[in-house]
Amino acid sequence: MSRLVVVSNRVADPRRVAAGGLAVALGEALSSSGGLWFGWSGTVVERGAPDGQLHVQRAGNVTLATVDLGHDDHAAYYRGYANGVLWPVFHYRLDLANFDPGYIDGYRRVNRLFAHKLMPLLRPDDVIWVHDYHLIPLAAELRAMGCQQRIGFFLHTPLAPPLILAAIPGHEWLMRALFAYDLVGLQSQADMNHLARYLVTEAGAEQLGEGRFGAFNRQLRAAAFPIGIDVDGFIELGRGKEATETRANLREQYARRQLLVGVDRLDYSKGLPQRFRAFRTLLERYPENRHSATLIQVAAPSREDVDAYGDIRRELEGLCGAINGDFGDLDWMPIRYIHRTVARKRVPGLFAASRVALVTPLRDGMNLVAKEYIAAQDPADPGVLVLSRFAGAAEQLTEALLVNPYDTQATAEAIERALRMPLDERRLRHGRLLEEIRRHDVHWWRERFLSALSEGGPG
Ligand code: G6P
Repeated sequence: MSRLVVVSNRVADPRRVAAGGLAVALGEALSSSGGLWFGWSGTVVERGAPDGQLHVQRAGNVTLATVDLGHDDHAAYYRGYANGVLWPVFHYRLDLANFDPGYIDGYRRVNRLFAHKLMPLLRPDDVIWVHDYHLIPLAAELRAMGCQQRIGFFLHTPLAPPLILAAIPGHEWLMRALFAYDLVGLQSQADMNHLARYLVTEAGAEQLGEGRFGAFNRQLRAAAFPIGIDVDGFIELGRGKEATETRANLREQYARRQLLVGVDRLDYSKGLPQRFRAFRTLLERYPENRHSATLIQVAAPSREDVDAYGDIRRELEGLCGAINGDFGDLDWMPIRYIHRTVARKRVPGLFAASRVALVTPLRDGMNLVAKEYIAAQDPADPGVLVLSRFAGAAEQLTEALLVNPYDTQATAEAIERALRMPLDERRLRHGRLLEEIRRHDVHWWRERFLSALSEGGPG
């Protein structure tokens, strides 16, 4: 059996609960092959101090190898190119992209540095799995150094339509770098269609068959591999002390009210202002929800040193204050807005106590909160998922109430419908959704990607 090498910007100790389902799932695959997980150490060293230091530690059967980044490299690579260019563009937000020409050099430098540090750690029969938009050119850098091993890439974000991608200065270089991989995985069929159209229309690639493209004297295989969650792991977390306590406390506090929940990183792609406006419309148009419906919105701080994130924070605080001020009363506040991270162990309890989940991003690669909400429900009395049709998850979770988050009225109507949905219908929908997330869970995702990577002929 080949050893698995996972490469991602962030590296987590897979033994810790806080690491979340993806880290745990990758950790399982790494442990079974005695694998290596490589990425950024999380440390940014000050200007003038030595950077590029490699740290190697063991986490059970897994080796974690991480690299420190210099201040300027980190600023240009992470804050600049990854989160100031690729993140907004891949989420269709050209208006928020900052095409500073200095960023791309930092992005290249860090990818080259990673390749240099990783190369000596590799064994001839390793299988390498690179994750996410931070590391698109990594395989090309490794190949330039003579790396012959199989390398796969999975993009956790969406991929925008060709003409949006084409706005990135140097997009040809970026997308050409994908051809150094043996397999490229995307979250959804929509993303796959965009990649196929980009390759044919912008890169002049020849479509050789389903998900096979030829260009630059290489072949590229690509397919959709929708990521899932560790359903049993999440249900187990829900049986823990913290989750049961959270559920019991919320149920007691809100015994005569209906709870709605949203849990997101505070990111402009999540559609939080639109969600707050839809909630406001619900209170205006369906007044029976006043003094009753309460939205708990957790918005975990994220990427605060990128400008666009400060703007969304201020907008949300303004909206929340206005809604609470206009509708709140001595004994009831419509929105409980929490701009902090809630302990992962409490999240299943929060979901279980909530009658409705609002997962309404403007664009999202997959959105695992939607799947975790389903897993946390009591099948005998389940809550209802209101899901944006622009989340990758909507391709699979067709029994959720699908909404267009830009349509405030229609979203408010869907929330009203969710709050009034009869038990029979809730059970029927939940049963089908649970079946779907079980069938396509994180283990299925990982195995399917890795077997496709090892099956294919030479790239
Ligand atoms: C998204 C990305 C991940 C990233 C995560 C947290 O899910 O796809 O690659 O790690 O956001 O963002 P951060 O910038 O804190 O790593």
